[in-house]
Amino acid sequence: MTHSCRVSHQYFVKQIKMNMQYDGPTKLFINGEFVESKSGKRFKVIQPSTEKTICEVSEADLQDVNDAVDAAEEALSGKWKTMGATGRRDVLLRLADLWEKESEELAKLESFNNGSPINLSMYITKDLVNEWRYNAGWADKIEGRVVQSCKNDLHVYTRREPIGVCGMIVPWNLPLWCLVVKLAPCLAMGNTVVVKPSELTPLTALKLAEMFTRVGLPRGVYNVVPGYGPTAGAAIASHMRIRKVAFTGSTLIGRTVMEAAAKSNLKIVQLELGGKSPMVVFPDVDVEEAVKLSQFAVFNNNGQLCTAGSRTFVHSKIYDEFVQKASKAMSQHVVGDPMDPKNTLGPLINKVQLQKVNKYIQTGKQEGAKLLGGGDEYKGQGYFVNPTVFANVKPDMTIAKEEIFGPVQSIIKFDDEKTVIKLCNESEYGLAAAVLTNDIGTVFRLSSSLQAGTVWVNTYHETLAQGEFGGYKQSGIGREGGPSGVEGWTLCKTVIVKSKL
Ligand code: NAI
Ligand code: MG
Repeated sequence: MTHSCRVSHQYFVKQIKMNMQYDGPTKLFINGEFVESKSGKRFKVIQPSTEKTICEVSEADLQDVNDAVDAAEEALSGKWKTMGATGRRDVLLRLADLWEKESEELAKLESFNNGSPINLSMYITKDLVNEWRYNAGWADKIEGRVVQSCKNDLHVYTRREPIGVCGMIVPWNLPLWCLVVKLAPCLAMGNTVVVKPSELTPLTALKLAEMFTRVGLPRGVYNVVPGYGPTAGAAIASHMRIRKVAFTGSTLIGRTVMEAAAKSNLKIVQLELGGKSPMVVFPDVDVEEAVKLSQFAVFNNNGQLCTAGSRTFVHSKIYDEFVQKASKAMSQHVVGDPMDPKNTLGPLINKVQLQKVNKYIQTGKQEGAKLLGGGDEYKGQGYFVNPTVFANVKPDMTIAKEEIFGPVQSIIKFDDEKTVIKLCNESEYGLAAAVLTNDIGTVFRLSSSLQAGTVWVNTYHETLAQGEFGGYKQSGIGREGGPSGVEGWTLCKTVIVKSKL
């Protein structure tokens, strides 16, 4: 520990006030009903801030995934089809209303299960109302095209049709967000779905099942099969009757999912993977504000965001001032019970992630980065880690290259624009990037040169239902949100009509 001892274990002695009793669903949801898994197996769901067991949930494997696919396939041609686009729109709008009413409860359950700071979960669940309504609105607005055929006797038009049964494999860091950005457009376009939430955070996807029942979603349209990746997840990725799989998680498993899709039925693959997103701070900005934003970029959700701004490039003219202020700003972050709105950082999701992040911090020290604060291991209950800031980071150090997925900031000095663009783009990741400047020319040059699916200017972590989100390079394939996100849940069919046989 260095001088910034205000961010220290004193924060960990906070009482974990949250002892919410969980009495929600704990079984698989297949064909409109909560059912036990065929194997009868169950797995424990742990609260990361206390390491206590919240409940046990039925564990799906291949047999259950098969049942869910049967239900989803049948639902494609049933009531879901006859209710048509306006019917789908109305169900999704009713869900949006119910979601709005219950968003606080959803947020609490989310934070309880995954350790996201409650303020963040509240913000996200409330914002997801827009995601539901935006996509519900698309249900009755999707259009094909009339082609002005160059062959006179042919009348040609295209239709946008549902893909069929779709699979979703979602992670634990933002379970609801990662699910809804896929699910809302998928259902709006008339597909049916089999969802595998992370084995670490299955509770909100199951609560959603209950909510769908209340708003009259036909049975079999939304199925949930909680379970492990190599069993339930792999069963989805390689299923012969699932026609698209959307995955959010590590690049490693994204590759596995794509391979399984290729080896089975060539299902469409949508991947939202990791990142090592750069933020470039130019010398014309308010340094104090820039420091705050840079730490929000990397500490938000305890650093467990695919978009985490984990490489902070700072211009040499303001570097020393920035580093000094970054060290001071660290003391503003308060680690503790994620259910207490005063705390800005909660725990990591589990021991594996905690060990992984601690190891990166050790590597940062060993490779010669200068630790400004944090970096000390927490030995008590809960998977907590102090926010950690490294200065004097060199672009080839491990902490500047690999996705850490924890609250670890790496501050790197740069001298000129051309070099910093090159350094930003050296990564195989390309999910997001940010530019902090008041110079419009710099904004245009950087935003067009940075290889990233999202470029934020003077802000960070903003996403919206109308905007496309996704990765360049190994950060992913396909887009979530916006018109491309909607279209991605359809197949285009061309109809060619000859006026006479
Ligand atoms: P993961 O990629 O293993 O897990 C994500 C989802 O994939 C979970 O639902 C999991 O059950 C499922 N899965 C695992 N193996 C599978 C398989 N063989 N077939 C199909 N599905 C499978 O992520 P993990 O292990 O929890 O975290 C490891 C690292 O991944 C993190 O440290 C972080 O760097 C990255 N990550 C990135 C996320 C993002 O938002 N892009 C989200 C979660 C993790
Ligand atoms: Mg994994």
